[in-house]
Amino acid sequence: MARQFFVGGNFKMNGTIESIKDIVHKLNDAKVDPNTEVVISPPALYLLLTREHARKGIEVAAQNVFDKPNGAFTGEISVEQLKDSNITWTLLGHSERRVILQESDAFIANKTKTAIDGGIGVILCCGETLEQREANKTMDVVIAQLAAVSKQVQDWSKIVVAYEPVWAIGTGKVATTEQAQEVHKGIRAWMAKELGQQVADSTRIIYGGSVSEKNCRDLAKEADIDGFLVGGASLKPAFVDIINAKQ
Ligand code: G3P
Repeated sequence: MARQFFVGGNFKMNGTIESIKDIVHKLNDAKVDPNTEVVISPPALYLLLTREHARKGIEVAAQNVFDKPNGAFTGEISVEQLKDSNITWTLLGHSERRVILQESDAFIANKTKTAIDGGIGVILCCGETLEQREANKTMDVVIAQLAAVSKQVQDWSKIVVAYEPVWAIGTGKVATTEQAQEVHKGIRAWMAKELGQQVADSTRIIYGGSVSEKNCRDLAKEADIDGFLVGGASLKPAFVDIINAKQ
């Protein structure tokens, strides 16, 4: 089954009004593969600015969303508020929130359910630490992270899974094509067993962790790598090369 190539840009906690406008304007004018689905994710403060300046065809994602509707949740943002702002996606489960903010698999699953039920797409991040990989626990960890979501969410049609080995994030140590393909294939096999063949065949599984213009083409050739979630390089002109990795 053909799955549309998907490239997300996670700006993380980076940027200013001027720098984000500059990135978006350059992306608007770049020659990008029309067959690649592109979603950019600025800090929450700049979601409206990014939505206002990004051209049609470039979608905008929040980097997080709360699991409750509007109310007394100081500092949080609701699905309703994202929809009110024409923000159509959110990242959830990024390892920086799992590790630094101690977000649990169950909390991330709650937030995924709230987003999907509310009509927002979810880029659902998963991945193992170096210690877990060296202990041969990679698939156990990744499947546990995804299984927590499958307990609450049956409709995976608006979920893109992002496999991001923690040891490759921001380190320059990109996973080899074999390492990445092996985990993506394992995730797809788990989906087939737990969620059915149609979900397994149609869900995009994208790779994140030190993706660059140098390594993206080889990674993109792998059967179960359907795109990328890009951190550092999404702030640079190289992001266009990564979007065009299938060309
Ligand atoms: O969410 C994407 C991010 O974790 C990857 O970061 O800088 O290694 O591309 P980076």
